Amino acid sequence: MTEAIERPAGDAPPEWEYASAPESTDVMRLDDRYGLFIGGEFVEPKSGRWFPTISPSTEETLAEVADADAADVARAVDAARDAAPAWQGLAPSERAKHIFRIARQVQERARELAVLETMNGGKPIKESRDVDVPLAAAHFFYYAGWADKLEYAFPGRGSPKPVGVAGQIIPWNFPLLMAAWKLAPALATGNTAVLKPAETTPLTALLLAQIMQEAELPPGVVNIVTGAGETGAALVDSPVDKIAFTGSTAVGKAIRRATAGSGTRLTLELGGKAANIVFEDAPLDQAVEGVINGIFFNQGHVCCAGSRLLVQEPVFDVLLGKLKERLQTLRVGDPLDKNTDIGAINSKAQLEKIEELVTSGVDEGAEIYQPECDLPERGFWFRPTLFTGVSQSHRIAREEIFGPVLSILTFRTPDEAIEKANNTPYGLSAGIWTEKGSRILHMAQRLRAGVVWANTFNRFDPASPFGGYKESGFGREGGLHGLEPYLTFERVSS
Ligand code: NAI
Ligand code: MG
Repeated sequence: MTEAIERPAGDAPPEWEYASAPESTDVMRLDDRYGLFIGGEFVEPKSGRWFPTISPSTEETLAEVADADAADVARAVDAARDAAPAWQGLAPSERAKHIFRIARQVQERARELAVLETMNGGKPIKESRDVDVPLAAAHFFYYAGWADKLEYAFPGRGSPKPVGVAGQIIPWNFPLLMAAWKLAPALATGNTAVLKPAETTPLTALLLAQIMQEAELPPGVVNIVTGAGETGAALVDSPVDKIAFTGSTAVGKAIRRATAGSGTRLTLELGGKAANIVFEDAPLDQAVEGVINGIFFNQGHVCCAGSRLLVQEPVFDVLLGKLKERLQTLRVGDPLDKNTDIGAINSKAQLEKIEELVTSGVDEGAEIYQPECDLPERGFWFRPTLFTGVSQSHRIAREEIFGPVLSILTFRTPDEAIEKANNTPYGLSAGIWTEKGSRILHMAQRLRAGVVWANTFNRFDPASPFGGYKESGFGREGGLHGLEPYLTFERVSS
């Protein structure tokens, strides 16, 4: 599928191709229709509406999913409210058992979850298998461990209590993992939840609902309502105690307006335009892998993607050469193929957004590079793309593209790199590539980003907090910090 790299004639190695290595979909038994998961059962939507959910790599309909209206959302919130006293009254070690069971069931059904995630979202199977699903299980394991240790987690703050019912709205780029990020800390802290998956990727959350049933989670502790933005807005408007949102900055702002003055707790994890900064003393081959992973992992549908590459001038030519060569080896296509590096773009709408921004890059005068590669006829695809000659005012340097598109800029001094890296409305993540430890510390202190990776990128661990500055949102998920948004502290006088 990908063109072979051109090598000098003479001692040229024989040309060879990967055979296709498709993951079997036999493990998946999809129902024709999925109702809403309310009070521990799958129920028909009161709205009477259903919508198809497709595979973005084939455009085939996988199943129909309920489209929840405000009455359906209200029913889910009521179920969560009704379940709260018993769940909060349970011994913390008993709550932990349920969450550990969920974690083990996610591992047990890992293959099914990975295949379904790839079918519904378009991401390469090697990523859903090796990243999304194991990390989702790890989050449940990690937070299960906290459930009976909350008293010790925040010394001197008083007695931790759950906030109540959490409304959680998640995006389509890491559907199962984002469900785990939201649900695991909420459950560990004794809250009940209503989760709304993204409209293009509802299926793994619904499989997770089945897992919750198997784990004998008490009915109503977790409720899942499917639908689009209107369903999300209905959840925001409903009497929940906390909203946790991951998605676009525009919707994040709307949610902040809607919850202002209501007393509803809020955390927002929004977009990003991260700088990945390569110094002249960096181990360049390692940096190339980090840059490639930073922007092409999950088709670039990553809020913390390293979408702006800042290269120190002396190594610009050599790094660019290595990047172009590496780009030619990326395999774009069937996400169920175990050799695929870049799968399908999640939706037609997202593909159009990427195309529009890439066109703006060309129109504004940046130079585009895309390797030759055949793309499948059906489905939504975009070639891995590099832009050079990018100035800071270009839209492709300022706006989140959320696709496999890297904008490359240069710098001379560390101060210039900091200035350029921070010249963005966002502040979610950053990367530094250098041999010098002191430089890593110097840079990390000055970069306005919630996560700074050094000589690596896109590393995640449930014990490590994640979140942004500025228009990337506020609040932290993961780690000890991730418990706090779900707790209130009662002062006890001694
Ligand atoms: P979106 O923000 O509209 O969708 C995220 C979630 O919010 C979905 O579950 C959606 O149904 C829900 N939603 C939409 N409107 C809502 C509303 N008014 N009230 C409550 N919930 C609502 O993101 P979209 O439109 O899918 O993507 C647009 C852009 O947003 C992307 O191109 C990307 O740049 C950015 N994005 C960032 C993400 C991140 O992880 N930070 C994730 C998804 C998108
Ligand atoms: Mg939207």
